[in-house]
Amino acid sequence: MGTKSTEAPLRKLMGPGPLDIHPRVYQALTSPVIGHMDPAYFKTLDRIGDQLRRVFQTQNRLTHATPGTGTSGMEACVANLIEPGDPVLICVHGYFGDRLRQMAERQEADVSVVEGEWGRPTDPQGVKEAFQNKGYKLIALVHAETSTGVRQPMDDIVRLAKEHGAMVLLDTVTSLGGVEIKVDEWGLDAAYSCSQKCIGAPPGLAPITFSDRAIDVARNRKHPIRSWYLDITLLDQYWGSTPRVYHHTSSSTLNYALLEALLLIEEEGLQNRFERHLKNHQALVAGVEAMGLEMLVQPDYRLPTLNTIRVPEGINEAKVRGYLLETFNLEIGAGLGALAGQVWRVGLMGYSSSAENVLFFLSAISRALAVQGCKTELSAGSDAAMSLLNA
Ligand SMILES: Cc1ncc(COP(=O)(O)O)c(C=O)c1O
Repeated sequence: MGTKSTEAPLRKLMGPGPLDIHPRVYQALTSPVIGHMDPAYFKTLDRIGDQLRRVFQTQNRLTHATPGTGTSGMEACVANLIEPGDPVLICVHGYFGDRLRQMAERQEADVSVVEGEWGRPTDPQGVKEAFQNKGYKLIALVHAETSTGVRQPMDDIVRLAKEHGAMVLLDTVTSLGGVEIKVDEWGLDAAYSCSQKCIGAPPGLAPITFSDRAIDVARNRKHPIRSWYLDITLLDQYWGSTPRVYHHTSSSTLNYALLEALLLIEEEGLQNRFERHLKNHQALVAGVEAMGLEMLVQPDYRLPTLNTIRVPEGINEAKVRGYLLETFNLEIGAGLGALAGQVWRVGLMGYSSSAENVLFFLSAISRALAVQGCKTELSAGSDAAMSLLNA
């Protein structure tokens, strides 16, 4: 009576996530709510497992979506695989590697860190030296560091971990569904992601996958896992056992949306999707550089999904973001942690990774900078972007 219903403004989401979602995913969000023990719903959960196995490129039986955002996937992996006193090695070259370190410390693990520069990937030499000094049960790292826009090359680090018998845990929150992840071929023991970035669904679910070795480690712990909600052995009785055992009231709304987003990925084809993300990223970079702006990350390590652009001297970066939001309904991300105030983070993920978003962003940022007296070569920028978008 007199109160208005929800009134979320319709934004264009080009930050670190969430991103815009496809109309079919919105439609799936309006599916009827059904019970979490309904046999029809179990079929949906099974289909999600199958689709996630395709996207993670794995045969791992235990592949599902944990309730909660990406952080719940991170916590599920850390809490199940790490026990008090376990020697673990964490690679930190950004905000989310540091979150992994904090979580491992809360499990009272014996944590060692390979510290890297923000804006560069972890140097495998540091990992090699760490293994020379000590044995580790597990090494954890971030594939796509959203705070810096760095893509971590995997080969050398995984090889070192395997040579020393350590498990590998990988954060794929800003890569799964947008950049290739090969869980089985790379020999990962566990990985997690989120629903709201390259997958293209709303936030609220965290895809995870555990190898048989990782399941054995979780099952044969000396100390019971401290988290009841994220105990993978209990969750597995709901996701994967016959009969299914109630664990929590799984959100059918979010899971229907996730399934629809995963079906869209299947229809597009994984390789096509990776190529689309790469092409739009390259066009954005070409445009940004032709306009006279600078990227933070060196070309070899740039993420196609998250672009970090240096804030030019003398520009108030928060004012630029505020202007974009107010004038164009456009959301981009601020710098995080050590890069606060120094970069903007521009996401091109899932449904948001499109040619029109690239061109829209270039003209919007050019205008926002002009308002602060910073002139950019917009037509050179759009020409450079267009030449790649047409290719
Ligand atoms: C690399 C990385 N890991 C973990 C997270 C945490 O995910 P969420 O915010 O969905 O809990 C994020 C969030 O952006 C992320 O970028």
